This record gives sequence, C-alpha cells and structure tokens, in this order.
Amino acid sequence: MESKRIAAEKAVESIKDGMIVGLGTGSTAYYAIQKIGQRVKDGLSVKAIATSKQSEELAIDLNIPMISFTELEEIDVTIDGADEVDGEWNLIKGGGGALLREKIVAAASKLLIVVVDESKVVPVLGRFPLPVEIVPFGFEMTVRKLKKLGAEPVIRREDHQIFVTDNGNYIADCHFESIPEPEKLHTMLNLIPGIVDHGLFIGMAGQVIVGSTDGSVRVLSK
Ligand code: A5P
Repeated sequence: MESKRIAAEKAVESIKDGMIVGLGTGSTAYYAIQKIGQRVKDGLSVKAIATSKQSEELAIDLNIPMISFTELEEIDVTIDGADEVDGEWNLIKGGGGALLREKIVAAASKLLIVVVDESKVVPVLGRFPLPVEIVPFGFEMTVRKLKKLGAEPVIRREDHQIFVTDNGNYIADCHFESIPEPEKLHTMLNLIPGIVDHGLFIGMAGQVIVGSTDGSVRVLSK
C-alpha cells in the first residue's frame, strides 16, 4: 500500500553508513527492508538484525549484511510498523505475531522509528485486539487470568491450527475495545505467569512517521 511505503521509505532516510539497524516485521516494515536493500546495493554500509524469521529471510535475499546479538552492544535505529499509535506514541504491536522479538530489538535500540499509515493513529488504544504471547504450558489458565483483566482473549489460529510464534509460543488476541490506561495494563500483564510479553509498547517510540493516501508523509509531534 502506497501510504505504508512512503512512511517506510522516509524512515530509511535516517540510516547512515556504519549503523546497526533493526528490521521490523509486517507489511510496512517490508517496504523499509526493501529500501534498505536498495541502498545497500547502491553502496550503503550497514549491519542489520531482524525481528522475525520472515524479515531475516527477506534481508538475506536482499544481501543486507546481518549481525547477531553476540556481536553488538546497541542497535542505532530500528524501523518497525505498528497496529495502533496513540497521542503519547504508545503502541499496540504484534498483529503479525512478532511482538516479543520486536520488543527485544526495540529495547536494544537508541531510536525506534514507527512507520504507519494514517488509519493506525488513534486517540485511545484498544480497538485493535492486543496480542499477548503466552507459553503453551497451562495456557488455558493464562487465558482465564486475561479474562479477569476484562479482556475477551481469542487464541490465534492459522489454517485451523493454533498459530505458533518464532519462539514456540501462542498468541492470545485480547479484545479490550478500549485501553484508557495502557501503562497500568502493561504492568498488570507483566505480572501474570505464563505471559511472555504483550504488544503494548509504552514510551519506546522515538519517532512516528505517518504516510497518507494523498501521498504526503508527516513526522508526528506529541
Ligand atoms: C508484527 O508482529 C507487528 O507488530 C507489525 O509491526 C504490525 O502488526 C504492523 O503490521 P503492518 O505493517 O503489516 O500493518
């Protein structure tokens, strides 16, 4: 989609020679990876680390040099998509199921640039079901605990099978409808055993770039 592509390509302008770059996951991050691949072909010298097997495969196909966590201290910039962004730049992520690796990479990054189309910018998070990554052991119990927090959790399926993340876990898509206090929910979710992580990214985005259907692109200010 054009609006996703222009946001992603704008973000790639921030990448300079010598940087270590985090590669996001999803259809918007796809355009960023494509653009990075093109710049690498034109002589840009970077090393990248991916947030999913899918993005890693794409990067390797594009001859983007990869680096592992063993070899790096910090990531200079990560470009990733989001499912929702509120006015404080809090995010819901994980629509593609890669939220855990995305959060690990984002937390290791000096700058997380979020690239979205305008449909993702919302006044309050929560209309998009919050993805929560849970371990298979005792997942029924974890789901009950999520219900007690007011969510309607649905275990994600793909082709009638339970969807399994790159980390071997399940995703519970939690319908909250509205998350007026994302920080509070973030803390509560982190206290439930069985939850590995969740798609609330609080205070992690350093820049938000929004592409619009009219072809314009804007860098959001808070
Ligand atoms: C992947 O797990 C997600 O966090 C994506 O970044 C998010 O779902 C946005 O995806 P799109 O760019 O495909 O809309």
